[in-house]
Amino acid sequence: MNKEAWDISIESLNGGYGSHLVLRDFSAVMPAGTITTILGESGCGKTTLLRLLLGLNRPQSGRILFGGRDVCAMSDRQFHKLRRRFGVLFQDGALLSSLTLAENVALPLVEHTRLPRKVLRDAALRTLELVGLDKFADFYPGELSGGMRKRAGLARAIVTEPPVLFCDEPTSGLDPITAAQMDQLLLDMKACYPHMTTVVVTHDLGSVEHIAEHVLVLKEGRSAFSGSKEELYAADDPYLRRFLDRKYEESRRMAAPPLDSSVREALSEWLDD
Ligand SMILES: Nc1ncnc2c1ncn2[C@@H]1O[C@H](COP(=O)(O)OP(=O)(O)OP(=O)(O)O)[C@@H](O)[C@H]1O
Ligand SMILES: [Mg+2]
Repeated sequence: MNKEAWDISIESLNGGYGSHLVLRDFSAVMPAGTITTILGESGCGKTTLLRLLLGLNRPQSGRILFGGRDVCAMSDRQFHKLRRRFGVLFQDGALLSSLTLAENVALPLVEHTRLPRKVLRDAALRTLELVGLDKFADFYPGELSGGMRKRAGLARAIVTEPPVLFCDEPTSGLDPITAAQMDQLLLDMKACYPHMTTVVVTHDLGSVEHIAEHVLVLKEGRSAFSGSKEELYAADDPYLRRFLDRKYEESRRMAAPPLDSSVREALSEWLDD
């Protein structure tokens, strides 16, 4: 359906929450038709960046261009229309618990088209097949494992064949085998939809190694690195090295026990009761 490949360009972006500026003068490019992974330590602004890209937050200044179109200059109505072309995999899959997998996956089509039920179900089944869950089409999310829910979330994100796919930590909370399957799925999506520009926020260096074609590293709301993973691995910047080599810092915590003696006494009374 969508044969366009969209670059995402971010220029001098300032944005956050009210007066709390999280991204500061942030610039980056996510090349069209590639998988870009976004890395950075907790609290550096990855989710905030995703929220700005999705239009859930509006920036204070700067530009965000999708295929050359600046969304910051768009009206809310224009942006909503553009957002139809975004697929989003939220961290926990964000499925509706009262709907089956097939109904969840068909939801974007139900909301935005007037297709007959049979066509909707077939579309959902075909997409579920892509993520290996067609046999579970009539299961409810509560009857699935966390990894299966993530895969179903991915099916729902791509059922409209969007030119842009955003994934927030697709492998977090998954065991290494299921995480590898999720990575493989993202590569399968890429093979199936070569025009899709995929943006993956992740803490998982194994995923980066496996799927990344382009890497961004954020540090305190600014860009600390932008390039290929080979360039990242070769970097000698101390922050990047600490990130990549998982260096341990000396503990800054106090040696003193954390609980006050009165709390401990009350606890032992309770335990001995
Ligand atoms: N809704 C909010 N209101 C105010 N400040 C927020 C809000 N959400 C996040 N922040 C702040 O924005 C900063 C960046 O948070 P963000 O969630 O973008 O980090 P992150 O890189 O996604 O971290 P993590 O890896 O832990 O998910 C933090 O200082 C956080 O306190
Ligand atoms: Mg986050």
